[in-house]
Amino acid sequence: MSDPISGAKEHIDAARIAAARVDDIPADTPLLPVNRVGVIGAGTMGGGITMNFLTAGIPVTIVEMTQEALDRGVATMRKNYENTVKRGKMDAALAEAAMGRLTPTLDFGALAEADLIIEAVYENMDVKKEVFGRIDGIAKPGAILASNTSYLDVNEIAGATSRPEAVLGMHFFSPANVMKLLEVVRGAKTGKQQLATVMALSVKIGKVPVVSGVCHGFIGNRMLSPRQAQAHALIMEGANYWEVDEALLEFGFPMGPYQMSDLAGVDIGWHRDPNRIETLRDSLCAVGRWGQKTKKGFYDYDENRQRTPSEEVKTIIAEWAAREGKPQRTIGKDEIRERLLYPMVSEGALILEEGISQRASDIDTVWLNGYGWPAWTGGPMFWADHIGLDTVAAGLEKYGLPVAPLLARKAAAGETFNA
Ligand SMILES: NC(=O)c1ccc[n+]([C@@H]2O[C@H](COP(=O)([O-])OP(=O)(O)OC[C@H]3O[C@@H](n4cnc5c(N)ncnc54)[C@H](O)[C@@H]3O)[C@@H](O)[C@H]2O)c1
Repeated sequence: MSDPISGAKEHIDAARIAAARVDDIPADTPLLPVNRVGVIGAGTMGGGITMNFLTAGIPVTIVEMTQEALDRGVATMRKNYENTVKRGKMDAALAEAAMGRLTPTLDFGALAEADLIIEAVYENMDVKKEVFGRIDGIAKPGAILASNTSYLDVNEIAGATSRPEAVLGMHFFSPANVMKLLEVVRGAKTGKQQLATVMALSVKIGKVPVVSGVCHGFIGNRMLSPRQAQAHALIMEGANYWEVDEALLEFGFPMGPYQMSDLAGVDIGWHRDPNRIETLRDSLCAVGRWGQKTKKGFYDYDENRQRTPSEEVKTIIAEWAAREGKPQRTIGKDEIRERLLYPMVSEGALILEEGISQRASDIDTVWLNGYGWPAWTGGPMFWADHIGLDTVAAGLEKYGLPVAPLLARKAAAGETFNA
C-alpha cells in the first residue's frame, strides 16, 4: 500500500456529500412521510435491511412465505443485536427497543400500513414481478415500492405495477446492517419526490446513498464484471490465482477476487449437478470445493480460516487452460494489477457517458464504500486521473482491451474525469 494520493481524503469527503444530491431535483422538494417500513423476505438481505430501520427508530413489518423462514430471520436479527450488545457497541435496552419495533407476519395485507415497502426475495424476474403485482394491490396510495435486486431491470419490475412512479431500487450490500453503501436505482419513471425521499431516508439510517440509472449490475456490480473477466483470463494464461489476489492486496484491497469467491461461496449460482462440468467453477464444486464453508475453495482453510494455495486447484486450472488451448507464461505483478484495474476505469467511463452515474465522484463513492477500494487512491476514477488517463488508455490498448470512447477522448485531450 502507498501513501495517500494528494487530495484523496478531501475528494472522498466531497464526493460523499455530492453523491447525496440529485442534480435535477431541487433541494427543497417536499419529502413523503416514512413512518413505517415493510420488508418482504427475511433472508440474508431482508433481515439486515430491516435492522437499519429498527435501529433508527422506524417500525418495520416483515413478511415471509413460511413460518419457518420468518422465525429463522427474526432469530438472526435478535442474535445480531445480542452480539452488538456483547461487544459493547449498543445498550441492551436500545437493542430490546429496536426488536420491539418489529412486526413479523405471514400476512401480506399487513403491508397496507407501510409508507415504504422493500422487496428482498429471490433474484428472479418472474418472482419479483409476481411480488410487485401483489404489493400494487395492497400498498396505500403514495407508498414507495423498492426492490433490493442486484442486477435485474427495475423498469421491468416497475411495469408489473400500476404506479411505476412509486418504484425504485434500493440496492443494499451484504451484510446490510453493516455496509454503508446504498445504490438507489432510478427507474425511467421514478418520481422525483419518491427519489428525494429515499435519498434523505438513506442518510437518516446511516447509509451512503448513490444514485444509479438502470443497467445490468448498476454502478458497482457492472464495474466488477470486467475485473472478474480479467481475473479469470489471467489464471488461464498462467498467472497463479493467489498472485491475482496478492496484486489487489498489495494495492490495498481487503481481499482479492478468489478470496472473495471463497468467502461468498464458490457454489453460488452453481447448477448442483457434479456430473455436469462446463466451467472451472463446475470442476471446483464437483469436488466439494465450495469455499470457506467446506474449508476448501480456491484455497485450503485451517480451523482458524487461514488460507493456503491448493495443489488440487492448481491442477484443475491447468487442465482447463490445456483444454482451452491457452499458452502458458509467467505474468508479472504490474500486468496483473493493470489488467484488473484499468478495465474497471474504462467501464466507469461508459457508466458516466451513458448517464448511469451522475458524476465521476459517485463512482468513487460506490467503490470506496461498497467494495473495499483503497482510500489512499481516492477511488477508481480519482486514481485514474492521478496516474493519467493516457496511461490507462495506453495500458488497455497494450493488452488488447477495449477503451471506452469517453476515456479515449479525455486521454487524448489531456483531461481528467474529476474536474
Ligand atoms: N446476498 C447478497 O449478498 C445480496 C447483496 C445485495 C442484493 N442482494 C439481493 O437481495 C435479494 C435477496 O437476496 P438474499 O441473499 O437475501 O436471498 P435469501 O435467499 O437469503 O432470502 C430470500 C428470502 O425471500 C423469501 N421469499 C421468497 N419469495 C418470497 C415471497 N414471494 N414472499 C415472501 N418471501 C419470499 C425466502 O423465503 C427467503 O427467506 C436478491 O434480489 C439478491 O440479488 C443480495
